Amino acid sequence: MLVVGNWKMNTSQAEAVALAAGVARGVAEADTDVGVGVCPPFVWLEAVRERTEGSPVQVGAQNVSSEESGAYTGEVSAAMLSDLGCTYAIVGHSERRALYGETDAVVATKTSRALSHGLTPIVCVGETLDERRADQVEAVVTGQLSGSLAEADDASRIVVAYEPVWAIGTGETATPEQARDTHAIIRRWLTDRFGASGAAVEILYGGSVKPGNADDLFRQPDVDGGLVGGASLDAEGFVEIVRAAARARE
Ligand code: PGA
Repeated sequence: MLVVGNWKMNTSQAEAVALAAGVARGVAEADTDVGVGVCPPFVWLEAVRERTEGSPVQVGAQNVSSEESGAYTGEVSAAMLSDLGCTYAIVGHSERRALYGETDAVVATKTSRALSHGLTPIVCVGETLDERRADQVEAVVTGQLSGSLAEADDASRIVVAYEPVWAIGTGETATPEQARDTHAIIRRWLTDRFGASGAAVEILYGGSVKPGNADDLFRQPDVDGGLVGGASLDAEGFVEIVRAAARARE
């Protein structure tokens, strides 16, 4: 099980450090074998990494450049993130796809960059409400997987996050059954494509995960944890979600 917080474009430096400290303390007390990561804004990565050093909490970035290095103003490379001690990089988040025009091809290159610098990419996929209503969940999600993982030949260092776009930041959550069904589709696709390494990929659910719904979601087969946005900005609530992940596999 793995629970990762996506802080998005939130927190001052002081808030980021305090949040990291609270999460590190709470996760250490929870004493579980659930993997835990936090993804602060780039500018607080170093401060958060220092604050979580020696704790079970890993640090990740919310994005990574598709380019290796050079004249790409404003970009941050996988090598830099790795140099900083990051473990994870979120790639292809729906906000990046929708607001910054990231295509599956770009996400595929970002995934390769992350992998080649020792980062674990958290590759996000998910359908919109219109696509769900049109019965296109399987086509959309498998299409995104096949495009976004086109350059990978092994899945052993890849994490996939299923994040239905209509559930992100809306307070609306997929029902445990909807999560289970889509995770099963993703598992089948990963296993067909990558064999044993695909069968072992951690598939996170994301979209309004909170302490109150985490238990039901995490108890579903193939839901191997969560990618948590809004609720990751509160240390206590986030740690409660980590505890739910631990309970789910007891
Ligand atoms: P949310 O965001 O938990 O606020 O819905 C999830 C995400 O975007 O990763």
